[in-house]
Formats: sequence, structure tokens, C-alpha cells
Amino acid sequence: MRKKLPDEEFYHLINHGPCVLVTSGSMKRGEINVAPIAWGTPVNDEPPLVAICVATSHHTAKLINKYGCFAINLVSRQLIPAIKICGSVSGRHADKFKRAGITPSGCRKISTPFIKESAGHIECKLKTKADYGGVFLFVGKVVHCEIENRFYDGHLLPEKAKTPHHLGGSYFFVSGKRKKY
Ligand SMILES: Cc1cc2nc3c(=O)[nH]c(=O)nc-3n(C[C@H](O)[C@H](O)[C@H](O)COP(=O)(O)O)c2cc1C
Repeated sequence: MRKKLPDEEFYHLINHGPCVLVTSGSMKRGEINVAPIAWGTPVNDEPPLVAICVATSHHTAKLINKYGCFAINLVSRQLIPAIKICGSVSGRHADKFKRAGITPSGCRKISTPFIKESAGHIECKLKTKADYGGVFLFVGKVVHCEIENRFYDGHLLPEKAKTPHHLGGSYFFVSGKRKKY
């Protein structure tokens, strides 16, 4: 069971800086893709805005430009192998969902799928795009956000969600226990 979050609380899922799997494309059109993105950040809560940096050459960038939406999938460490598979080949040449053993599932508000095996996901409609010569900064308006109940009690439970954080190359660390200060 997943809990719906108020859109303006979407940042609770990614405030701690995880490497996420970004899904793109349209299920209706049968053109979907998935790729790991380490460079992303909340931009605002009201209105809820989130930014991701995507190389202009990536198939992901082409699909976000084409369909005007994307989904940010928060994953647990069990999906690190999927991160590595989806980051090593372009969706132009492969069905990465099949290759990584993950399942595309219909989003609530956008035509792009989310990943059924994810811990939670954030659905975004493209608001603005800036081209920094080789990389697009896509800013999305959050239109829906949900998280598995067991990973959330009003805030993320990082010791349960065990999200991967990319340190470059093949190195990651996994989120640990939260503390109130
Ligand atoms: C751990 C990890 C993090 C990555 N983070 C980013 C990122 O933030 N931005 C980006 O443009 N590419 C990033 N990449 C690279 C893309 O995910 C990779 O080139 C992917 O194959 C692109 O797929 P596509 O052509 O299907 O979009 C990352 C790769 C890995 C393995």
C-alpha cells in the first residue's frame, strides 16, 4: 500500500539526495524509458517544483522533451543492480525495464509510467528547460507523489527505505537512521 502525499511535501522523498530512477515517455504510445539520475534537487514546495540534470544526448532527454513529463522513482538498495543496468545502456537500443527486471506501471496524472518495485514516486509535468551546453536542467511541476506506507510516518524513514546515494564511479552509500535534532 502506498500513501499519497500532499504535492507540496514531495521533497520529503528526495531531500536527502538519493540517486533516483527517472522514467520518461508515454505508456499509451508504447514509448517508455528509464535511467538513473544522481543530479536532482527540490526547487520549491509551494508551488512544488523539482529539477533534474539530464545530458542532451540521453534518450531520456528526448522523451521528456517529446511528452513534457517525467517521473522520479525513489528506490531501495535492492535496485542498485537495476541502476547499474539502466545506466549502462541507452533506451534507444534496449528495453531497460525488461533487462533490469523492473515493471512499468501507470501513473495517476501523467502518461509516463512509474516503477512498480520503487519505494515511492513523484509525477512531474515539465515546466521549464534550460540548456547548459550538453545538459538540460529540466524543472518539473509536481502533480502527484506517493510512497510505500512502511517507509513513511509523516517524514521518510531512511533506515527502512535504504536509498542509494551515488558517490561517483561504482561507489554508493545507503541511507541510515534518521534523528531529530
Ligand atoms: C549512478 C548513476 C547516476 C547517473 N546520474 C546521471 C545524471 O544525474 N544525469 C545524467 O544525465 N546522466 C546520469 N547517469 C548516466 C545515465 O543514466 C546513462 O547514460 C543512461 O544510460 C542514459 O540512458 P538513456 O539514453 O536511456 O536516457 C548516471 C548513471 C549512473 C550509473
